[in-house]
Amino acid sequence: MTKDTTVSTTAHLLPDGEKDPRLGGNAGMSSDYLEVRGLSVDFGGFKAVRDVDLTLFQGDLRFLIGPNGAGKTTIIDAITGLVPSTGSIQKSGVELVGKKVHQIARLGVGRTFQTASVFEELTVLQNLDIAAGAGRSVRTMLRRRPAEVPAAIEEALETTGLAHLRDKPAGVLAHGQKQWLEIGMLLVQNASVLLLDEPVAGMSGEEREQTGNLLRRIGGERTVVVVEHDMEFMRSFATSVTVLARGQVLAEGTVEEVQANPKVQEVYLGTMEGDALEDGADAANTSQNQGA
Ligand SMILES: Nc1ncnc2c1ncn2[C@@H]1O[C@H](COP(=O)(O)OP(=O)(O)OP(=O)(O)O)[C@@H](O)[C@H]1O
Ligand SMILES: [Mg+2]
Repeated sequence: MTKDTTVSTTAHLLPDGEKDPRLGGNAGMSSDYLEVRGLSVDFGGFKAVRDVDLTLFQGDLRFLIGPNGAGKTTIIDAITGLVPSTGSIQKSGVELVGKKVHQIARLGVGRTFQTASVFEELTVLQNLDIAAGAGRSVRTMLRRRPAEVPAAIEEALETTGLAHLRDKPAGVLAHGQKQWLEIGMLLVQNASVLLLDEPVAGMSGEEREQTGNLLRRIGGERTVVVVEHDMEFMRSFATSVTVLARGQVLAEGTVEEVQANPKVQEVYLGTMEGDALEDGADAANTSQNQGA
C-alpha cells in the first residue's frame, strides 16, 4: 500500500489523503492562524513566560500541557490581553500585543476560564444572546421579538447540544453543560481562535467524551487550544501537543512524540500527571520498565 517509505515527513505514516495532524486541517492553505513569537511575561522580575514560540493553524486541536506553574494560563492571559507581554502575537497577520482585551476579542480570539463564567439566573438562550450582542446595540436586542432566535444562536445551541435546555436558567445546568454553554458563547461571538483553560476539570467520563467530540466538531474551521492536565483526554483528542515547563517550550509534536520525549518524561517524573503519561506509553516501553 505504501508507495514511498523514503519521505522525510510523517506523511508516510498516515492513511492516504490524511494530512499531518501536527499541522492542522488547513495547514499551509489558510492565513487564519495564530503566530506567537518570542512571547514573554514578566511579573515584577519573575519571568512566568520566557521567549515562547507557537504556531497554531486553523483546524488544529492543540493541547498545551505542563506541570503546575509552567505558565499555561499566563500564555492564554497574554494572548487575550489580560496581562502585559512582550514579543509578538499575530492573528492572521494582525498584531495583538499592545491591544486591549475587547479589541482582541473583537478580532475573534476567545477564551474560557476554569470556573465557568455564565450568568446563572439567565436562561441558556439569554446567555447566548448577550454574548452575541457584545457587538450589537441594546436597542436592536430589545426590538427583536422574543420568538426570533438568530441563526448563529440556533446553530450554537445545536452544536453544543444545549438546544433542549434553551429556556432553562444556566444555574441549573450540570457542570459540563455550563462549560459547553461558555464554548457556545464564544461561537456566537464568531471566535475563530478558542483558548480553553482546563475545560474538562471536574467532568465525568461521559462529559469528557462529549466535550472532546464538541471540540472536534468546532475545531475543523477554527483554531482550538486546550490547556489540560488530563492526559487521557489529551491522548484521545489532541492533534498536536506543546509541553511547557518553567515558562518555556520543552517539546512539541504529536502525542506519541511528546510522550516518548525523555525531557518531557523527566519534568513529569513523580507527579500525578507523570503516572498518567506513563499509562499511555507503548506496550514495549511498559514491559521494559517492568522487566528492569
Ligand atoms: N499575577 C501574577 N503575579 C505574579 N506571579 C504570577 C501571577 N500569575 C501567575 N504567576 C506565576 O506565574 C507562574 C505561571 O503561572 P500559571 O498560572 O500560568 O501556571 P499554569 O501552567 O497555568 O499552572 P496550573 O497548571 O497550576 O494552572 C507561576 O509561578 C505563578 O505563580
Ligand atoms: Mg493554569
